[in-house]
Amino acid sequence: MADNIILGVKKEEDPSENRVSIVPKDVKSIIDLGISVHVEKDSGIKAGYSNEEYESSGATLVTTLSEKTNIITAVNAFYNTKSKFVKNSSIITLSDIRTNEEVSRVCEENDLSLFAMEFVPRIARAQKLDALSSQASIAGYRAGLLAATSLKKYLPLMMTAAGTIPPSSILVLGAGVAGLQAIATAKRLGADVTGYDIRLAAGEQIESLGAKFISDEVPEDSETSGGYAKEQSKDNQVSQLEFLKEYILKSDAVISTAAIPGRKAPILIEKSTVLGMKAGSVIVDISAPSGGNCESTILGESVEINGTIVHGPKNLSSEMAFDASIVYSKNIFGLLEIIINEGVTNINLEDEIIDAMLVYQDGNKRIEG
Ligand code: NAI
Repeated sequence: MADNIILGVKKEEDPSENRVSIVPKDVKSIIDLGISVHVEKDSGIKAGYSNEEYESSGATLVTTLSEKTNIITAVNAFYNTKSKFVKNSSIITLSDIRTNEEVSRVCEENDLSLFAMEFVPRIARAQKLDALSSQASIAGYRAGLLAATSLKKYLPLMMTAAGTIPPSSILVLGAGVAGLQAIATAKRLGADVTGYDIRLAAGEQIESLGAKFISDEVPEDSETSGGYAKEQSKDNQVSQLEFLKEYILKSDAVISTAAIPGRKAPILIEKSTVLGMKAGSVIVDISAPSGGNCESTILGESVEINGTIVHGPKNLSSEMAFDASIVYSKNIFGLLEIIINEGVTNINLEDEIIDAMLVYQDGNKRIEG
C-alpha cells in the first residue's frame, strides 16, 4: 500500500508575515480527505493559533517539514528562495511568480509543482478558493480603519453642545474588492464617502453602499472580458490625473486601491497634488506593494509631506492575521477538496481551476505569466 500523503504547513519565513496558511479548525477537515497533516512548530503563533490547538486537531508538530512531505502550504513559500525546498513536492501558495524570477528557478531545480493562489480563476465555482479577494477584503477594511485613526477628525457628523462638526470626506480610488470594503467601512463609521473606478460597472456597487460615484470620460474598452481594468493610454492617464486632482484636494482622506493584475499600479495622485492637500489630510495607498497609486508613497512607511500623512502599508491583511488566516485556510481547503480524493491526489488538467492555477508541474512550466 502506498504511503499516506503528507500535507505540511510551512512556518512563514518573512518576519513581517503574521498569517498562517492552515488554521487548526481546518486540520480535521483535511485529515478527513484521507491524508496526514504536519505543521512546523510555532507556525500559527503570530496569527493567534497555538501548537496545542494544532495537535488537538490531529496534526503532528514537526521542527522542519521532512523529505516525505508531498504537499506544502504557505502564505508566501518563496519569501526566501535560498531556502531548502522539499524535492518533488507540490506547493500551494501566493507565489509572486509574475514579478520574482527566482520562483521559476526554484521550481525547476527542485522539480516542484506549484499551485499559485493568485491565479484562481474568477468563476463562480472557484469563489471559495479566491485568496486575492479574501485578503483584499481584509486590506480594504483595515485601510478604512487606518484612515479613520490617522485623521485628526471625527468621521461622522457630530452635533455637540459646543457646536456641529461636519463629517470627514473620504475618497476611495479603485472600487474592486478592497475598495468596496474600504467604502463600506468608512460609511459605517459615518464618513461622507466618494468612490471612483475606471470600470463603469463599479459605479452601481459604489452607490449601493450609499457612497457617491464620480466618473470621468472612461474609454469603452477600459475593462477586460474577465472584469479587470486595463492599463490606460498616456492621454487617458493625463486626463484622469487632472479629473481626480479636484476631488483629492477636497478630501480629508484618500484610500487608493487601483491595480492592474501583474502590472505596476497606475499613478492617480501626483506629488504636486499631495503638496496641495489640506494640512492633516491622510492617504492610505493599499497599492504600495505593486508600486503605489501615489507618487509620494514609500512601501512599508508612513511619511508626512507638508502636513499630509502618506501611508504605504506592505501587508494590511497580515495585521489582521487571525481572521485573514481563517479565510486563506478555507481558500486552500477549497483546492485540496478538488485535488485529493480518498487519500489520493488527482490532478485533472481539464478542470478549469487546476488548469489556471498549476503553473509548474514536476518542475516543468505549464503557464507563462
Ligand atoms: P484589482 O485588485 O485588480 O483592482 C482594484 C480596482 O482598481 C479595480 O476595481 C480596478 O477596476 C481599479 N482600477 C485599475 N486601474 C484603475 C485606474 N486607472 N483608475 C481607477 N481604478 C482603477 O481588482 P479586484 O478587486 O481583484 O476586482 C476586479 C474585478 O473582479 C471586479 O469587477 C470584481 O468584482 C471582480 N471579481 C470577481 C470575482 C469572481 O467572479 N469570483 C471575485 C473577485 C473579484
